Amino acid sequence: MKAINNQMYNELADAWWDENGKLHLLKVMVNPWRVPYFAEALHKHFGLDLVRLRLLDIGCGGGVLAEEFARLGCRVTGIDLAERSLEAARAHADKGNLSIDYRLGAAENLEFDSSSFEVVSCCDVLEHIRDWRKVIAEASRVIKPGGLFFFDTINRTTRSQAAFIDGLQENPLTKLFPPGAHVWEMFITPEELSQAIEAHGMQLEGMSGSVMTGNPWSILWEVLRHKLGRTTVAELGRSLALKHAPDFSLNYLGYARKAGYS
Ligand SMILES: C[S@@+](CC[C@H](N)C(=O)[O-])C[C@H]1O[C@@H](n2cnc3c(N)ncnc32)[C@H](O)[C@@H]1O
Repeated sequence: MKAINNQMYNELADAWWDENGKLHLLKVMVNPWRVPYFAEALHKHFGLDLVRLRLLDIGCGGGVLAEEFARLGCRVTGIDLAERSLEAARAHADKGNLSIDYRLGAAENLEFDSSSFEVVSCCDVLEHIRDWRKVIAEASRVIKPGGLFFFDTINRTTRSQAAFIDGLQENPLTKLFPPGAHVWEMFITPEELSQAIEAHGMQLEGMSGSVMTGNPWSILWEVLRHKLGRTTVAELGRSLALKHAPDFSLNYLGYARKAGYS
């Protein structure tokens, strides 16, 4: 199996909040799909007032998702292994007057007591970690009984090989990410993820798939326009923003509830 390149989150740490940074795609292309979904789940389970909720964002990177949870009112802690991404996250939160506790830490060994958080999110992270089942076990341990686990990840299919590996990493005409940004064998099927979630005392409450805005030709056109320098990463991401669809062959998301009552 090829090596995963998680060092890129130190090397590209300036790219999270830069309209031309590759990691900004998570904000402009993925957030419009996942943030309203998670916000609805939070309100459904905890009511309208989220200010007392302690939320841990595992693998928070530059904070593009953590900030959204903080804006919803949650008390957010973010952990990541990339120190430079954490610096970018702290600097951006300071600028926006958001109080988020960003800490260096490994997803597989969380330095928090059991039942410390009402909510744990782990988004676009599991497919970057070899022992992702350990991350699920740790997430479940630190969630309070009755609390929620949020995830999004990428399915292991022929389509994800074509899109994420051949298209976005290897084809010189269309590649946007360095080698090893994703490793196909590390992608996770919905069945594998559901089984691990249930094996660690959580009950799956919902899952949703995705499609990119546009058709295959318009998507290719937008990527080529960007590669020719006609559009920024932000413009590219907005034009392709993910939408909910019953298609689980690429990105999918969902949430689970830990058994018990708080
Ligand atoms: C694709 S980014 C996702 C960032 C953020 N969750 C989001 O969705 O915007 C993956 C993040 O996982 C982090 N990561 C990878 N392996 C990790 C580990 N073992 N423990 C903690 N963070 C890790 C990387 O440093 C990177 O910031």
